[in-house]
Amino acid sequence: MSDVLELQDVSVVREGRALVDQVSWSVKEGERWVILGPNGAGKTTLLNIASTYLFPSSGTVSILGETLGSPGTDVFELRPRVGMAGIALADKLPKRQTVLQTVLTAAYGMTAGWQEEYEDIDEQRARAFLDRLGMSEYLDRRFGTLSEGERKRTLIARALMTDPELLLLDEPAAGLDLGGREDLVRRLGRLARDPIAPSMIMVTHHVEEIAPGFTHVLMIRQGKVLAAGPVELELTSRNLSLCFGLPLVVEQVGDRWTAQGLPMS
Ligand SMILES: Nc1ncnc2c1ncn2[C@@H]1O[C@H](COP(=O)(O)OP(=O)(O)OP(=O)(O)O)[C@@H](O)[C@H]1O
Ligand SMILES: [Mg+2]
Repeated sequence: MSDVLELQDVSVVREGRALVDQVSWSVKEGERWVILGPNGAGKTTLLNIASTYLFPSSGTVSILGETLGSPGTDVFELRPRVGMAGIALADKLPKRQTVLQTVLTAAYGMTAGWQEEYEDIDEQRARAFLDRLGMSEYLDRRFGTLSEGERKRTLIARALMTDPELLLLDEPAAGLDLGGREDLVRRLGRLARDPIAPSMIMVTHHVEEIAPGFTHVLMIRQGKVLAAGPVELELTSRNLSLCFGLPLVVEQVGDRWTAQGLPMS
């Protein structure tokens, strides 16, 4: 299987501190990764690298077979092949655009603008993705009036619009209520198990948000890789405790995960 993403000895140094510290990691086609790690561990920084928007201080990055910084690689050609749904993007999108427009503009690699003539086929695709994310009733609502959960579902539909080969999700369930989280986990699980869906990397803080169908986990702490591999092998109480720096017990309940701290003795 070919590499969707390959990082070799990658570091991102800012103000003398390594935010990402000599990370080597590879994601193969069809794999669905979860990234776990405490606040400030470097998760979003890793996604920014994977989305081509951040160039590392050292190390080698290959995305969809293209090596960043090599003469043959054009990041502008690479960007539409990678879909990114993160809350940072939500702030850049025009609040007055409708939900449908917000998703449609992705087809043209823009964050704004409704002057273009959109093809019928694009509109059908946008409607289909929004339907898949449960947003069919919100097509004409202005993006700025959506709740956080609705906004996140819109962003995921938007990220799918360019038919990416790699989909990056930064804390898609953060801020959702229990029903909203469960609904999103179910939808992401469906996407994760869809053999023609893109390879996926999802950042989360909570093992409860790992949908069935996610195959691998990367745990990072202070920019360093603590564990990387298949979920069943690496999502252990020991690894999770080391990752978050406190004694934790992780359990599998059916096809989902749950974690809690050990009671103080
Ligand atoms: N431009 C920058 N200059 C200096 N430090 C930065 C810069 N950008 C990010 N950082 C720091 O890098 C660290 C990693 O940030 P990052 O956003 O990747 O963390 P994260 O794992 O996504 O955290 P969270 O769970 O809170 O979202 C943080 O300590 C952050 O303050
Ligand atoms: Mg983050």
